[in-house]
Amino acid sequence: MTDTPPHLTRLTFHGPLSETRATTLIRRLAATKPTTVLDIGCGWGEFMLRVLEAVPQATAVGLDLREEDLARGRRDATARGLADRADFVAESALGTTRTPADLVLCLGAGQALSTAEPPHHTDEALRELRRLVTDGGRVLFGEGFWQRTPTPAELSGMWPDASAGEHYDLARLVDAAVAAGFRPEWTETANLDEWEEFESGYQADTEIWLASNSDHPLAAETRTRLDRHRAQWLTYRGVLGYAYLTLVPVV
Ligand SMILES: C[S@@+](CC[C@H](N)C(=O)[O-])C[C@H]1O[C@@H](n2cnc3c(N)ncnc32)[C@H](O)[C@@H]1O
Repeated sequence: MTDTPPHLTRLTFHGPLSETRATTLIRRLAATKPTTVLDIGCGWGEFMLRVLEAVPQATAVGLDLREEDLARGRRDATARGLADRADFVAESALGTTRTPADLVLCLGAGQALSTAEPPHHTDEALRELRRLVTDGGRVLFGEGFWQRTPTPAELSGMWPDASAGEHYDLARLVDAAVAAGFRPEWTETANLDEWEEFESGYQADTEIWLASNSDHPLAAETRTRLDRHRAQWLTYRGVLGYAYLTLVPVV
């Protein structure tokens, strides 16, 4: 019997991102030859580390609050010979005083840059990203959007207090980036395969643990959490989208 259920060990990225899309995004971003990279809400920073592998002259700082994820990032950086160029810092990104970087990553972490209520936290996050990127640099912004307006029944099956007003649709999301001082170099969205791989990977290790640990003291709460998340995800499947916006700051 293991002590605690494993969690997130089956994920490469903490979001719906395929190997193919990651490779294409990194090739496009690396072509701008950034020397400094700032990753807002980096988690274990797999994308940031791949940017460093693609751009040997670059150094990177990742900010996050989750020690466990930062520790995984540091271990991965060391294993890949990147420890001297990748700094994983336990620090809030909210109002950060870090100096602007040539490439700013903010993948699924817009909430780290704003205290405003949704959806205006997205506007505030984008203004912060404009402040944090150097002229001539790039921002990669990964953010949720509604693929269509969710019905009241769907909203009641999603996360607590889910509301139709909390996300923009894709057109308004890109408009918000433009209003914050960017032009969109590239607009792309996660497909269903990427979502299914992400959401299955999100639970798979814990599901396998639960199947052989049903007598464990943590089994009941683990089962409740897994069942709740599965029901939520299978409700927002095809309704909640995720955009990858490669943004050029207007100077
Ligand atoms: C969905 S995860 C994305 C992680 C990573 N960007 C990726 O794509 O793999 C969002 C991350 O934002 C981090 N986060 C939330 N609020 C934050 C804050 N105020 N400062 C820094 N990180 C924050 C969370 O701890 C979490 O790791």
